[in-house]
Amino acid sequence: MSLLSQPPSNEVLQSLIWENDALSLLDQRLLPEETVYLHLTTTQEVWEAIRELKVRGAPAIGIAAAYGVVLGLTGFAGDLAAWQSEVRRHADYLATSRPTAVNLFWALDRLKARAETLGSSSLSPTEATDALLQEAKQIHAEDELTNRKIGEHALTLFKDGMGVLTHCNAGGLATAKYGTALAPFYLALEQGIQLKVFADETRPVLQGARLTAFELQRAGVDVTLICDNMAGHVMSKGWIQAVIVGTDRVAANGDVANKIGTYSVAVLAKAHNIPFYVACPLSTIDLSTPTGADIPIEERHPDEVAFGFGKRTAPEGVAVYNPAFDITPSELVTAIITEKGIVNAPYDETLRRLFES
Ligand code: MRU
Repeated sequence: MSLLSQPPSNEVLQSLIWENDALSLLDQRLLPEETVYLHLTTTQEVWEAIRELKVRGAPAIGIAAAYGVVLGLTGFAGDLAAWQSEVRRHADYLATSRPTAVNLFWALDRLKARAETLGSSSLSPTEATDALLQEAKQIHAEDELTNRKIGEHALTLFKDGMGVLTHCNAGGLATAKYGTALAPFYLALEQGIQLKVFADETRPVLQGARLTAFELQRAGVDVTLICDNMAGHVMSKGWIQAVIVGTDRVAANGDVANKIGTYSVAVLAKAHNIPFYVACPLSTIDLSTPTGADIPIEERHPDEVAFGFGKRTAPEGVAVYNPAFDITPSELVTAIITEKGIVNAPYDETLRRLFES
């Protein structure tokens, strides 16, 4: 793994780039201070990058994993049957990197399905690997188009002058481009619509402060950073007319898993009569998971809470609970915004219908 440092510029920062038979990955742990691209050439490096949050955000994790499978096939020597089981082995390994974002499993399943078809073709393993790379690139390219559509739908819910609060980072850094929850802010900028964005800092890993504030400020969006415990205060002042967040997985009944603290924001929004919107691609909706209670919630290392960013902020040895995500029950979700349009409750029906048309 080599490091490539990129000087700051006004270009849109890309979280992932496939170039020279390798995955260039913007190391998100180093933002906002350093813009460093990692040059990943093995499946294991991709697994570690996902696990250690060098790449994070549901769609970006899926894209990285898809390229990770392809990297595992470099230099493969064997027949097509062995090639197919190699694809499955790498995909199953990458699936153990993080448990909550369903886009990871969605992307890996899509690659496995493609490998299944290629496995019964007359291609050589090298040609089959090339075709699998095309599938990974397709997932990457589709994500950008999907997010633009999500942004267009989401923007119909916002009016000039509105204050909008977001939690965590569901922006360009978490996806191929634009993001999901942040997509309408980029589109508003293009169209000259003034929105005032409030970004929760998002303890303990600070995706809101380090990533959302960074990417929106860089793009010229009007963004104000607040600590997580200030959300109620700014709502009570009347500064927030809508909340919009991304999600790692939507269950069949409309319950939403997203970054820890999202549930608290949804409760606050309800108390202040503010609409609470969730933006996501269809690949984040998991109809095979009945309710939020069935979504696996990742627990991360206690040091993220007690020794964050190299500074001890709690007594050594104290018990720490560090779930990375929480569940917002569907009753608190005003609408779910997808590339196919905006749906409301009853979600068990409206989400299912999205996959029928
Ligand atoms: O732990 P992270 O940083 O991967 O969590 C990310 C989130 O919770 C995002 O809001 C979600 O993945 C949606 S990204 C479009």
